[in-house]
Amino acid sequence: MHHVSDDNPRLCVALAHTAATEALGAALAPVLAPGLVIWLSGDLGAGKTTLTRGLLRALGHTGSVKSPTYTLIEVYTLSRISLYHFDFYRFAHADEFLEAGLDEYFGSDGACLVEWADKALPHVTPADIEIRLQVRGQARQAELFGRSARGRECLKHVVPPQ
Ligand SMILES: Nc1ncnc2c1ncn2[C@@H]1O[C@H](COP(=O)(O)OP(=O)(O)OP(=O)(O)O)[C@@H](O)[C@H]1O
Ligand SMILES: [Mg+2]
Repeated sequence: MHHVSDDNPRLCVALAHTAATEALGAALAPVLAPGLVIWLSGDLGAGKTTLTRGLLRALGHTGSVKSPTYTLIEVYTLSRISLYHFDFYRFAHADEFLEAGLDEYFGSDGACLVEWADKALPHVTPADIEIRLQVRGQARQAELFGRSARGRECLKHVVPPQ
């Protein structure tokens, strides 16, 4: 496996409240492209689903954004792009990824946002971008890493919220 977890993030963003996490998600909307894979790392409650909600709102989704904890995947077909939101927290074994046929969503027409990707290793597609969320008291901190040439290029065009 390719260990780059100790390298420097491209961006580091302080997130003082929930709306700031949503704003960071919204800042990713312009760079989202078919086949792009974003891993959302961080403990329970770190803000992974919140960031995804902000991204979906910026893409024009007006309905609810539910955690895929029980469904494994939530599919959003939006005017510009499809977005596949995964959560593998409940996997007892990584092979459940293959049994559910989820590999078909990767490298397709949509962008993939993945919570708890490590639970689907080695089957899940590696990230282009990894966003690490950490709890900091009542607030959060995000670190954005480019994990592929494509991901690094995308991150050059992300304008983080102040
Ligand atoms: N920057 C922030 N400051 C304070 N609270 C935040 C921030 N971002 C998100 N939260 C809050 O943290 C809580 C948990 O968020 P969320 O459900 O997005 O976490 P998660 O990482 O998806 O967790 P899980 O691993 O259980 O799916 C929510 O109540 C959300 O409003
Ligand atoms: Mg979540």
